[in-house]
Amino acid sequence: MENTAKKRIFSGIQPSGELTLGSYMGAIRNWTVLQDAYDCVYCIVDLHTITVRQNPADLRRRCMAQLAQYVACGLDPEKSILFIQSHVPEHAELSWILGCYTQFGELSRMTQFKQKSQRHADNINAGLFTYPVLMAADILLYQADLVPVGADQKQHVELCRDIALRFNHIYGDIFTIPEPFIPEIGARVMSLNHPEDKMSKSDPEGCVFLLDKPEDIKRKFKRAVTDSEAHIDYNPEKQPGVSNLLSIYCAATGKAMPDALAQFDGQGYGNLKSAVGEIVIETLRPIREETERLLKDKAYLENIYKTGAERASRIARRTLLKAHKKLGFLPR
Ligand code: TYM
Repeated sequence: MENTAKKRIFSGIQPSGELTLGSYMGAIRNWTVLQDAYDCVYCIVDLHTITVRQNPADLRRRCMAQLAQYVACGLDPEKSILFIQSHVPEHAELSWILGCYTQFGELSRMTQFKQKSQRHADNINAGLFTYPVLMAADILLYQADLVPVGADQKQHVELCRDIALRFNHIYGDIFTIPEPFIPEIGARVMSLNHPEDKMSKSDPEGCVFLLDKPEDIKRKFKRAVTDSEAHIDYNPEKQPGVSNLLSIYCAATGKAMPDALAQFDGQGYGNLKSAVGEIVIETLRPIREETERLLKDKAYLENIYKTGAERASRIARRTLLKAHKKLGFLPR
């Protein structure tokens, strides 16, 4: 499949915590849909994750669990390349090169850097700062045409485009210029208890995890923050909590917003919360059960990530050597 004429997709998720409903609706769900029409490469970006301190045993466990969840969500290792970023050293190598073509000012403007350096004020390391360069290397190594991500990653993909255009301008057509691919619904799932903030693993009560038990999901939706308007409408500015619940409902059922609004017309917030909770429980149930089953078969998962790294390496190496040649490095 590495030589097909299909367009290529690359995306990744950090194993920095358990996968969330946000990463599922913003990214993974789209990844599965794109598998047939595109040549897809999906990564577990463990190098990115160490920009924040990790417990090594937890990181190992989470990488394995994340791979199991990728498969349980419907990513097919026969169709898509599934691999772990640190297994393909070309990512770090190209990242160094691209760093020499990225400006300090560009990295200083990145929203995620500003947020993370506030949250981890005691550890604003150079990796946190150059994080988007490594992300650009991830994407450009595979000559990706499309990068399916949630809305929060758009700025990073745009920077990746700028770096690629700059490099190509000097050295010729080395890199494909990627486009972000952001879903219409589910691109920004908000926290259930702080609906003005993005749903994030750093706020576990406002966040649904893919492996949460049904009773936990039910509780989290029951406690979801709404408002005092007493009227179900989609208006993210005025009614962020209710609008978020409606968006999650639409993303999970595939319904269009006007249909969802008609369905809940005249109903109370309690009904909305329990309907959304139920549909999320039913969406995640098979994923949790399949993940539990897959995690018992370590050899199968190891085989997926080893094969994935070999296939990924073949593509990555070609791009890296092309860049080396253009830069004037002597052949190995
Ligand atoms: P990460 O690990 O924070 O998130 C993984 C993916 O999930 C999306 N996402 C969300 N979408 C909607 N609502 C939410 N609440 C929500 N939370 C997360 C993210 O937009 C993302 O698509 N830097 C990236 C990982 C990365 C990457 C890459 C992505 C590294 N290299 C190359 C694409 C291509 C990140 O931190 O995502």
